[in-house]
Amino acid sequence: MSRFTGRTALVTGASRGLGRVVAHALAAEGAAVGVFGRSRDRVEETVAAIEREGGRALALVGDLRVDDDVRDCVARLAEGFGGPDLLAHTAGVLRFGSLPELAEDDWDLLFDTNVKSCFRLARHVVPAMRARGGGAIVHVSSVFAQAANPGAAAYAASKAAMDALTKIMALDHIGEGIRINGVAPGSMRTPMLEATAAEQSPGDPEAMLRAVGALHPLGRLIEPEEVARLVLYLLSDDAASIVGETCVIDGGRLAQIGVAKRV
Ligand SMILES: NC(=O)c1ccc[n+]([C@@H]2O[C@H](COP(=O)([O-])OP(=O)(O)OC[C@H]3O[C@@H](n4cnc5c(N)ncnc54)[C@H](OP(=O)(O)O)[C@@H]3O)[C@@H](O)[C@H]2O)c1
Repeated sequence: MSRFTGRTALVTGASRGLGRVVAHALAAEGAAVGVFGRSRDRVEETVAAIEREGGRALALVGDLRVDDDVRDCVARLAEGFGGPDLLAHTAGVLRFGSLPELAEDDWDLLFDTNVKSCFRLARHVVPAMRARGGGAIVHVSSVFAQAANPGAAAYAASKAAMDALTKIMALDHIGEGIRINGVAPGSMRTPMLEATAAEQSPGDPEAMLRAVGALHPLGRLIEPEEVARLVLYLLSDDAASIVGETCVIDGGRLAQIGVAKRV
């Protein structure tokens, strides 16, 4: 029997990038997975790929900034598969700009998507977990919450707010059998980072990706599959004593002394 057999998992941001990898990994270990994202095509592609691999998945098309979407998607997942017992909150957005230059809409987008989403998800997911007798949640943060490149103030603040929510929510709900943790990855090759490289280094995005990789003492970018393994560990019963932690997975980037170049 696999680690997540009989469990239902909701994965936000599962239409691409890290979330898609997490959704595949959970399904491969027996979970029935709710694949949440805005892009219907990409959500359905993820579901079809999981089903081709023999897993169980349900397409949940919605916007985390809309409370009715979150409520309806959680309800549809409960109807389809029961639960959820597990939540991997992977969806996120990134915008660059020092505060005077950042558009107010971008500030609002960052905080609505990265922070208020935790509130909306908690309101609908925690009651469902209580009804199942417990559960586990992982919030995907970033090393930028702890030491960011210049130009990422609002993104860094949104991820630091997420880390604070992880700690306090963990204390609020551990007595109900709901374990809440976070992960803080270094830079991963996903559509988010590829879009940044294409925008900031249009002539040679690959050169920029190599340079970003070299900022990590490990000497390369972090693979989404490596982060997914940490997410699954934290969601699993193996991590029963880990509560309220945001675990760094960054190839040594935060451990080093040095001034990172803006990426
Ligand atoms: N890539 C990195 O280097 C890196 C480093 C550290 C931390 N992170 C964090 O890791 C997480 C995953 O990032 P990624 O690199 O995989 O990003 P990505 O490739 O841009 O994917 C982001 C995902 O979030 C979803 N999403 C965005 N806004 C949404 C909304 N309002 N409602 C529902 N879904 C929404 C997107 O869905 P649609 O496409 O369907 O809209 C997509 O599935 C994020 O929280 C990010 O901040 C990334």
